[in-house]
Amino acid sequence: MARIEDKGDRLIIWNGNAARRGALSPALYDCIAQAMVQAQAPRIRAVILTSEGDFFCAGGDLNVLIERRQLTEPERCEKVDELHALVRAMRGCPVPLIAVVEGGAAGIMGFITAASFPERDALRAEIRAARKACGDLPFGVNVSMLPKLVPGDQTEDIFRLIADEGIHVVETSGRNPEPYIPLLKDLGLSVLHKVPAVRYAIKAQAVGVDMVSIVGAECGGHPGMDMIGSFVNGAMAGEALDIPFLIGGGVGHGSQLIAALGMGAAGVVMGTRLLVSEELCAHDGYKQALVDATERDTALTMGSLRNTVRTLANETTAEVTRMEAEVPDITIQDLIPLVSGQIGRKAYETGDVSRGLLSAGHALGLTDRIEPMADIIERIEAQAVAAQQRLAGVLPMPKAAE
Ligand SMILES: Cc1cc2nc3c(=O)[nH]c(=O)nc-3n(C[C@H](O)[C@H](O)[C@H](O)COP(=O)(O)O)c2cc1C
Repeated sequence: MARIEDKGDRLIIWNGNAARRGALSPALYDCIAQAMVQAQAPRIRAVILTSEGDFFCAGGDLNVLIERRQLTEPERCEKVDELHALVRAMRGCPVPLIAVVEGGAAGIMGFITAASFPERDALRAEIRAARKACGDLPFGVNVSMLPKLVPGDQTEDIFRLIADEGIHVVETSGRNPEPYIPLLKDLGLSVLHKVPAVRYAIKAQAVGVDMVSIVGAECGGHPGMDMIGSFVNGAMAGEALDIPFLIGGGVGHGSQLIAALGMGAAGVVMGTRLLVSEELCAHDGYKQALVDATERDTALTMGSLRNTVRTLANETTAEVTRMEAEVPDITIQDLIPLVSGQIGRKAYETGDVSRGLLSAGHALGLTDRIEPMADIIERIEAQAVAAQQRLAGVLPMPKAAE
C-alpha cells in the first residue's frame, strides 16, 4: 500500500508496490494528491517519491491507474481530468518534488569499487560487510571494464558474483558496455554507466543502459580525453538524454546539487568530497593532506597514453609530467614503477602522499575538515536548502498552466 510519511520538514511518499510494473496504483495517486495539499505548509521543504522495493517505475501502467476498460466514457474523462489536475498540482508544488527512480531510499547510494578487491573472495567479503553495515539500504558496485586492466571473461565473472550477492545496481565504467548488456539484464542488474562526456552518454543510452553518470573535467580519477566541464555536461545532458543521468566532477557543495537538478539531473556523483570522511579507511595523514590541499593542487597526467588521470599533485605527478614531455613514445611499462596502484595504496596506509597517483579532483577546494560522513551530508543538505531558498527569492515558482 502507498503511504505518506511526515518527517517534519519533508514528506516521503512510499510506494508499497515492489513490482516493477503497475507502480502508479490508485492508492499511490491518492497519496500524491494528499501530499500536494500538505506540501503547502511552510515547514515542508521537499516531497520525495520513493519505493519500499528495489524499483519505482515512474512510467507505471496508466491503464491500471484509471481502470480505463471498466469505465464508461464520462467516468474515464473524469479520471483523466483528475490525473491532469494532479500533474498540474505537482508542477505547481511550492517545494522540490524528488522522484527516486531506483534504490528504495532518497539520499546517498554508495558504491564499492570492485577494482579495489582483485581477489574474488575479498570482493564478496566487502559486499557482505557493506550489507551488514547498510541493513536494507541499497548500495551498488562499480566495475571498471578497462580491457587492459581486467580481461573480458573476468569482468563477466565479477558481474555474476555481484548479482549472486544480491546487488541490484552496477556502475560500469572504462569502455562501451554494449557487449555486457545482455548478460547484465539476464542477471537482473540495473546498469548505471559512467562516462566523461555527453557524447558517450548518448551512445550508452542507445545500447540500453538504465542510467548514466557524466563526470566532467574537474573530477578526481579519469576525466577522459575531451575535458569538458561539468556545467556544460549538465546542460547538454538535459537536452540530449531521455534516461536519468547524474552529474559529477568537482561536486562537493549543496548549491551544485540544486544546479544539477535544475539542469535535469536525477542527482550528483561525489568522490573527492567524501574522501575526508572519518569512516573512510585511510590514514588520517592522507585525509589531512586533502583538507590542506586546494582546488589548485591537482595534476593531470597519463594523457600521452590516452588514459588521463586527475590526482593530487605530488612528486610522482611532477616526475610523470616530466617524462611524458621528454619521451614522445612513452609506454605504460616506462611509467609503471611510478604509477602502479600499489604505491597509491601505500599512501592510504601510511598517510605519506608524496608518491603515487592519488585520485582527487577540484572538489579539494571544498574539503575543509575531517568529519563523520553524516556531518558532511548534513552540511551539503543545508547548502542545498540555502540554494533553493535563494532561487525561490529570485525565481518565484511560475503559476502552473491551467
Ligand atoms: C580516490 C578515488 C578513487 C576512485 N576510484 C574509481 C574506480 O575504481 N572506478 C571508477 O569508475 N571511478 C573511480 N573514481 C572516480 C569516482 O567514481 C567519481 O567518478 C569521481 O570521483 C567524481 O568526481 P569528483 O572526484 O570530482 O567528485 C575514483 C575517484 C577517487 C577520488
